[in-house]
Amino acid sequence: MSRWMRKRGLIAADNPKSAAADTYRRLKTGIEWSVRDEGMKTIAIASAEPGEGKSTTSSNIAVAYAKAGRRVLLLDTDLRKPAQHQIFELPNDTGLSTALAGRGGLDQVARRTAYANLQVVCAGPTPSNPSELLDSDAMSALLEAAKERFDIVIVDTTSIAAASDAMIVADKCDGAVLVIRRGKTKLDAVQKAKDTLSSGRVRVVGAVFNRRGR
Ligand SMILES: Nc1ncnc2c1ncn2[C@@H]1O[C@H](COP(=O)(O)OP(=O)(O)OP(=O)(O)O)[C@@H](O)[C@H]1O
Ligand SMILES: [Mg+2]
Repeated sequence: MSRWMRKRGLIAADNPKSAAADTYRRLKTGIEWSVRDEGMKTIAIASAEPGEGKSTTSSNIAVAYAKAGRRVLLLDTDLRKPAQHQIFELPNDTGLSTALAGRGGLDQVARRTAYANLQVVCAGPTPSNPSELLDSDAMSALLEAAKERFDIVIVDTTSIAAASDAMIVADKCDGAVLVIRRGKTKLDAVQKAKDTLSSGRVRVVGAVFNRRGR
């Protein structure tokens, strides 16, 4: 297991018998019911503020799905502060930003990982126009292509407070999960984030209370 994985906490993969891994498996099961009942395939992992645990939660859910034998794509749409290439120790010279700029399709940018069934599209080099790239037909087409090839697509996003990117992306997804950092994120910020998400077409399928605040 790599140093980064330990450092960034790929808990489900690191220690499958831990309580944390069990939590991620249960979270996966909860999402799965929505996925199965309503045909949802693309799930945005969102949060009100930066640092609440979106990227950690995304990678852990993705690993939990892959370990359950599902074909999973993890898509890093945080083009401003990407994390998945670090978590999975993958090169970030190509990824979502290059695909959306017309340099390569899904097959060219999806990378295999140490986990069977799990592929990751890293964010790619930070572009000058992240919102514009995400708010494009190319982004919708990439998500459609991903839905055809994978059982589930987990979408890591920018925090809602940081930019409009998260809403742009979530609105192209079937469902959204709101990550809330317990004891730190203020209730009104959570409510606002939920209202913002709910004002779009995406269905908020659940919330995750992540780690204790300090
Ligand atoms: N449950 C947890 N227990 C311990 N550490 C955690 C947990 N969840 C996240 N962290 C740590 O908190 C930091 C922020 O987490 P993460 O990068 O997942 O948040 P984020 O919401 O994606 O942040 P950003 O808004 O910057 O993208 C990271 O260093 C991560 O390792
Ligand atoms: Mg993140």
